[in-house]
Amino acid sequence: MKGIILSGGSATRLRPCTKVTSKQLLPVYNRPMIYYPLNTLIKAGIKEIMIIVAPERAGDYLNLLGSGKDFGVKFTYEVQDKPEGLAQAFIIGETFLEDDSVCMILGDNIFEDDLADDVKSFQSGAKVFAKQVKDPERFGIVEFDANMKAVSIEEKPAQPKSNYCVTGMYLYDNRVVKVAKELKPSTRGELEITDINKWYLAQGELEVAMISGAWIDTGTFDSLLEAQNLAKEKLQSKLVI
Ligand code: G1P
Repeated sequence: MKGIILSGGSATRLRPCTKVTSKQLLPVYNRPMIYYPLNTLIKAGIKEIMIIVAPERAGDYLNLLGSGKDFGVKFTYEVQDKPEGLAQAFIIGETFLEDDSVCMILGDNIFEDDLADDVKSFQSGAKVFAKQVKDPERFGIVEFDANMKAVSIEEKPAQPKSNYCVTGMYLYDNRVVKVAKELKPSTRGELEITDINKWYLAQGELEVAMISGAWIDTGTFDSLLEAQNLAKEKLQSKLVI
């Protein structure tokens, strides 16, 4: 299993803080934001990690994280020229992934749960992690039947069929590269991770697990503040980096 941290984008919603550096390098209490998803991957035993960054921020990442030696892992860096969607990460990462499966985590997603067992026991298909949210129109949303079996997934639905959000950590087998290459951009011009999840769902190979702890997508100033407090109150003892 290899790891990808997708840490691109220009984060215009967090201007002026993101005028000179990347959102995922802003402080979340006493660590740069990306340390939290990196911590999740390292605790899961993943040793080879590709970090995908926006071109104008690549130097900042290299200066901060280096080769990975300090963390006991190996980093590979790649550039996402334009924010053309989460699913593009698997096309960018094709050579890096070789024949391996992948755990992708978003550089701005902070998880309280320890997902190491899920990563270590993953064999094939796809596994995603869901959490109930108050603002389902902002996310990928999964609908369940009466037996809590996933039946549909929609990206940012205007009329959400549930409030279960698909959070920003994804496990896929190596078929994900081929699936990503066949995607067409959505109306917002992006290759959608939700379309990858829909493909695995159609094969009957999408597992959706619930997360019990806190989860924050730090895309706004309010969620960034929430993340700071979570990091201070609950995450310090869980960090290995
Ligand atoms: C992305 C995904 C969405 C997912 C979310 C989690 O949204 O498209 O399905 O629920 O990450 O953070 P975006 O960050 O592009 O708004």
